[in-house]
Order: sequence, then C-alpha cells, then structure tokens
Amino acid sequence: MSGMDGTIEVSLWRGKADGRYQAYTVPLRENQTVLDVVTWVQRHADPTLSYRFACRVGMCGSCAMTVNGRPRWTCRTHASRVIENGRIEIGPLANLPVIKDLACDMQAFFDKWEKAKGVFAPSKTRHDPIEQIAPASAQRLAADAAIECINCGVCYAACDTVRWNEDYLGPAALNRAWTLVNDVRDAANSARLGAVAANGGCHACHSHQSCQQHCPMALNPAASIAGLKRRTVQAYIRGEL
Ligand code: SF4
Ligand code: SF4
Ligand code: FES
Repeated sequence: MSGMDGTIEVSLWRGKADGRYQAYTVPLRENQTVLDVVTWVQRHADPTLSYRFACRVGMCGSCAMTVNGRPRWTCRTHASRVIENGRIEIGPLANLPVIKDLACDMQAFFDKWEKAKGVFAPSKTRHDPIEQIAPASAQRLAADAAIECINCGVCYAACDTVRWNEDYLGPAALNRAWTLVNDVRDAANSARLGAVAANGGCHACHSHQSCQQHCPMALNPAASIAGLKRRTVQAYIRGEL
C-alpha cells in the first residue's frame, strides 16, 4: 500500500496549465487524508504551494482535486484508499482553468449555475404565511433526491461532454435546476425550462453517468438531467417553450 520506509511518494502539479508534476516525500500517518498529504507539503516542504479547502469535513465542497487520475473530495478521501505502489499523484480538477498548482478557477462552473437559473425565485413575500410542504409529497421527495449538492465540481470535472462542449451547462448546474423545477414554492420554472432546453442544456447530455459514479454525495445528476429532458419535451409539446 505504501513505501516500505513509512513514507508516500507524492507528485503534485505545480504552476499553471503549462506546469509539471513535482515529487515530494511525505510521512505516512494513520487515517491521513489526501488533503492532509497536500497540507503536509505546504507546511513542511514548500509554503508557496497553492490549494483550496475550508471545512475539512465534506461540507463546503472546496477541496476537490484530481487524485491518481480521478476527481475526488480530498478531505474525505483516505490516502490509504488511493495509494498505488507507494505513490499518489495529485493535480487540479479537470475541465477548469488552472490558477496555480492545485487551485482552479471555478468561475465558469458557477456562471453556469446562474445560466441554468439555479437560483431560487420566491413565489411568496415575507408578508405571506409560511407555505407548508408535506415531507412525503412526490415533489418534495423529487427535490430532496438532488438537493444535497455541495458544489464541489467533481461531476463537472468527470464529464466528457463538458470537456468537448464549452457551452454545456454540466451536471451540477442541471442537477440544481431539476431540484428547483420540483420545488413547488419556486416561481421561475418557465424561464428555467427554457434555459435548460437551449443549446448546451440538458439535451446535450450523453447519459454515460460519469457524474453519478464520481459524486461524493452519492447524487445522480444523470437522473436529474433525464427528468429535465422529459419535462422540457412535455413543455414543448404543450406549447409552453
Ligand atoms: S451523464 Fe451527462 S452530465 Fe453526467 S457525466 Fe455523462 S454527459 Fe456529463
Ligand atoms: S452533484 Fe455531486 S459531484 Fe456534482 S457538484 Fe454536486 S456534490 Fe459535487
Ligand atoms: S474541505 Fe470542505 S469539503 Fe473538503
């Protein structure tokens, strides 16, 4: 699983898109996460290493990186699970521009949430009574199924359609749109269905499920996108789009 001498050989991406991997030797520790490995390098080997994290408990979604070729949340990935022949290779997330080292620019990712109308549009004001939504109602359950997204970008980095089509909104933004389509309190569904039915929207998805295979929250954006495909076709047939 690891180096015989109690160390891990770690290759970290350094620089921008034209950078390169650089090797470090990191002490092996019990229950060490991949984020712990990166932090050790920054604290003990090179303080100029750039990377991003906040909560360290799988809630903020900021620590995602490419680990041995696969996008992962690093704070909840134990090094022992991913070490291959005593080595780990860690790079920035794919499909996003590299700012420096392990930090990538998430702007396009969040811009696409806005483009998919991933922001809740209230149908009531603060002066209206609070709307009661039955926890077991079909729409509440449908919204719940996709709601726990932490915006980590792992699915976006895993999606081949994002790689080949820069206009594609991507699994996270479309998953968010589907959550809101099922939110009976939201008032923007007509504009939202129009946004996700346009070029680069849900119909560009090839349904190969990489997003679902990699999502650390065990969400299934491909199923949400299938829901959007059905709903937008229905809206089109009814003349609503
Ligand atoms: S199912 Fe769709 S969104 Fe998910 S990885 Fe494949 S193309 Fe991307
Ligand atoms: S759907 Fe999953 S993988 Fe994609 S951003 Fe949300 S939590 Fe991360
Ligand atoms: S640091 Fe917040 S999810 Fe990993």
